[in-house]
Amino acid sequence: MKGIILAGGSGTRLRPLTGVVSKQLLPVYDKPMIYYPLSVLMLAGIRDIQIISTKTHLDMFRALLGDGSQFGLRLDYAAQDEPRGIAEAFLIGEEHIGDSPVALILGDNVFHGPGFSSLIASCVARLDGCELFGYPVKDPQRYGVGEVDAAGRLVSLVEKPAMPRSNLAVTGLYLYDNDVVDIARRLTPSTRGELEITDVNLAYLAQGRARLSELGRGFAWLDMGTHDSLLQASQYVQLLEQRQGERIACLEEIALRMGFITHQQCLALGSELGSSGYGDYVRELAGRAVPAA
Ligand code: G1P
Repeated sequence: MKGIILAGGSGTRLRPLTGVVSKQLLPVYDKPMIYYPLSVLMLAGIRDIQIISTKTHLDMFRALLGDGSQFGLRLDYAAQDEPRGIAEAFLIGEEHIGDSPVALILGDNVFHGPGFSSLIASCVARLDGCELFGYPVKDPQRYGVGEVDAAGRLVSLVEKPAMPRSNLAVTGLYLYDNDVVDIARRLTPSTRGELEITDVNLAYLAQGRARLSELGRGFAWLDMGTHDSLLQASQYVQLLEQRQGERIACLEEIALRMGFITHQQCLALGSELGSSGYGDYVRELAGRAVPAA
């Protein structure tokens, strides 16, 4: 399966923070925002990942993450020049996707909770059509809202409904079979001038091939579109990391655990991180895992 992280947009709601920096590179406590969605794809076992951003910001992502080989990944980069919608990612990423299934994740989404990596793994394994993830929220009218039957099949989906039929927001992680490229090609822009991801999902729904898994109580899905939600995400990560002593979305740790890099490579990454607390953590976990010579 291929992966795409959509990290575009002009971040208008976060100005002046986004005056010169991409929103998805802003700090979420101890690491840049894009680490969180990237960690989700890595946990799903995905190693071929395209990062889509605006032309002006792409070089910053490249400077941060390079070709991904340090994490055992293959990263490439593509530009979305205008905000023409989430579903445009499949047209921009067509060559990258090739004839594979694809996972798309929004670059400002944090997912964290027990059992998440095994849930994604089982969704990837049974993928036939599309797999969406729903999260109960207080303000569903701000999102795509889904309804499911007892078997987890999607039965209705409405983008930003005035009268939501459920409280299940469709989150920014989407798994698709390869048909998604053709579906995206046939889309026409919505009234806001965008190729809507909801229209892609409605095409799968019409074929009876759309499922939605609910991320329930105790799970955190955070999107960081405002100053408050950005700070809240940082506070969430800080609280859990300080309480438990484990880092969330530590790419070096995930690469090691997934077998993408060796203990020695992890140790080398830790050394490059210098004297930060994050660096200490990486060196400590690499050292702990190094097998006796
Ligand atoms: C988009 C999707 C919406 C989804 C949301 C998740 O909304 O259109 O269905 O629930 O992302 O963050 P947008 O941010 O484009 O308004």
